[in-house]
Amino acid sequence: MNGGEGLTRAPKVQIGIPVQRPTSWWLEILKRRAERMYDEKLDLSKPVEFSSDEERKACIAFFNAAYRAEESGLSGAHKLAAEVREWDPELAECLVLYGNEEGWHRELLEEFLHHIGGGVTPMGWMVRSFYRTYSKAERMESVMLTNLMFETIGATTYRLSLRGVKQPLARQVLKILTRDESFHIPLNVHFIREILKRHPERSRLRLKLIYHVVFRSLIFMSYGSRKVAAGFDHMTARDLTTAYVENLGRLFAQEQDLDFRPPRYILRAFGVTEEKLAEEGPGAISVEAAEKAARREHVEVREL
Ligand SMILES: [Fe+2]
Ligand SMILES: [Fe+2]
Repeated sequence: MNGGEGLTRAPKVQIGIPVQRPTSWWLEILKRRAERMYDEKLDLSKPVEFSSDEERKACIAFFNAAYRAEESGLSGAHKLAAEVREWDPELAECLVLYGNEEGWHRELLEEFLHHIGGGVTPMGWMVRSFYRTYSKAERMESVMLTNLMFETIGATTYRLSLRGVKQPLARQVLKILTRDESFHIPLNVHFIREILKRHPERSRLRLKLIYHVVFRSLIFMSYGSRKVAAGFDHMTARDLTTAYVENLGRLFAQEQDLDFRPPRYILRAFGVTEEKLAEEGPGAISVEAAEKAARREHVEVREL
């Protein structure tokens, strides 16, 4: 149903760049990205040097958290693809290809973890209960919005950690993940919009509730992660949490049709104003951001 749709234009947009694209556009890009995805390899020719065993363990904890996020992205996307196929096969195909990209990230992380003498470790109680709740989400809108918020904090964490992480191989992994998540964020917004078209009111109310619950949980989890990962990424709880509040808050600041507003008291607590969130420039979820991130070879990853 989406393939032949025209482009929808809205006032808050730069000239020539549409606010939304049809599913066929996303599918074509995803197919192109899939063609050469597996050709990109990690440079495992040298061992990764750590200043201490504590740093190595913190690195293993850091990338295990990333591994779990990739794993849940992959399974969520493929589960939804099966459900969506009935009413929109093109959208289902997008979900499959998107899930495959997360699957590829998961493989890279596994490879990296083994290379540094680690591996996939069992999750801590907080992370486990969070993912357990997430995996019980049946409705498409719940899965997609949670996923989008995961992608956002993932990209934020990776970009911030690039400030302090020096090991070339760890930086290569962080850059690959950041680069691809910057495309996944607007892609997930497309998925959400398509679901909203199908169930406008039911979905919108549910999404607002999820947005608020997940927002608070992720802020809480960022504090938990400091205990195990700070020895590697060198980020303070305050810096990381403020970046989460800003980036999760900014997510929908320029997409007025979605109308999700972050909790004001949390913004205040971290010194983030609504004006700052609405600053000019393309938002992370905009089609402009997707166009910039679509061709992997053209993306320049910068630390936050
Ligand atoms: Fe990913
Ligand atoms: Fe992703």
